[in-house]
Amino acid sequence: MRSSGKPARSGAAHADGTGRPDEVHVWDLVVRLAHWPLVVAVVATWFTRHAGAWHEWIGYFALGVVALRVVWGIVGTRHARFADFVRAPSATATYARQVIGRNEPRYLGHNPLGGWMVVCLLGAVFLSGFTGWLYTTDRFWGVEWVETMHRVSAYALYGLAALHVAGVVFTSLRHGENLVAAMITGRKRAQP
Ligand code: HEM
Ligand code: HEM
Repeated sequence: MRSSGKPARSGAAHADGTGRPDEVHVWDLVVRLAHWPLVVAVVATWFTRHAGAWHEWIGYFALGVVALRVVWGIVGTRHARFADFVRAPSATATYARQVIGRNEPRYLGHNPLGGWMVVCLLGAVFLSGFTGWLYTTDRFWGVEWVETMHRVSAYALYGLAALHVAGVVFTSLRHGENLVAAMITGRKRAQP
C-alpha cells in the first residue's frame, strides 16, 4: 500500500493488532537487517582504510546492502518505500521551518529531513564504493582525481553519518521516543 505521505498526528497511526496495543510495526526486517550491518561496514571502512583486501571487501559488502535497500525501497513494505519518505522540496522546507519553530509533527516513518538524509547516506555509500572499485581497476589505478573522489565521498559519508546520528538523537528527544530501539525492534508508539 502506498503511503499518503501524511505525518502521524493523533489517531493517525494504524494499529496492526500485534505486540503491545499502543505500538505499531513500522520498520520491517529487511530495513532493520540492512541498517545495522551497514553501520558496522561503514565504520569498518575507516579502520581498514589502509588494509587492502579487507577494506575492499567491506566496501563491496556496503555496496550490496545499498543495492538491496534500493530495491526494497521500491517493492518493500509501507515505510520502507522511497515513495513514503522522499518528499517534495517544498514539503521538506515546510518541515524544516516547523522544526525551527518547534512545532513539527511526529512521523511514523522517516520525517522529510530524515528521508532526504537516507537518500544522501545511500548515495554517499554508493559513490564511496564505486570510486573505491574504480581506483582498483587497471584503467584508473593511481589516477589522482579518482583517489580524490574516493576520499571526498568517504569523508562526506562520515560527515553525513554524524549528522544523521545527531538528527536521530534530536528527534528522539523532541518526541520522547527511542528511535534507536525502534530501529532494532521495528516498533514505535502509535499515539503521538
Ligand atoms: C555509520 C553510518 C550510518 C549509516 C550509513 C546509516 C544509514 C541509515 C539509513 C540508510 C537509514 C534509513 C533506514 C531505512 O529506511 O532503511 C537509517 C535510519 C536510522 N538510523 Fe542510521 N546509519 C548510520 C549510523 C547510525 C547510528 C550509529 C545510529 C544509532 C545511533 C543510527 C540510527 C538510525 C535510526 C534510529 C534510524 C531510523 C530513523 C528514523 O526513525 O527515521 N544510524 N540509517
Ligand atoms: C563504503 C565504502 C567505502 C568507504 C567509506 C571507503 C573509505 C575509504 C577511506 C576513508 C580511505 C582513506 C582515504 C585517505 O584519506 O587517503 C580509503 C582508501 C582506499 N579505498 Fe576505500 N572506501 C570504501 C570502499 C572501497 C572499495 C569498494 C574499494 C575497492 C574495491 C576501496 C578501495 C580503496 C583503496 C585502494 C584505498 C587507498 C588505500 C591506501 O591508500 O592504502 N574502497 N577508502
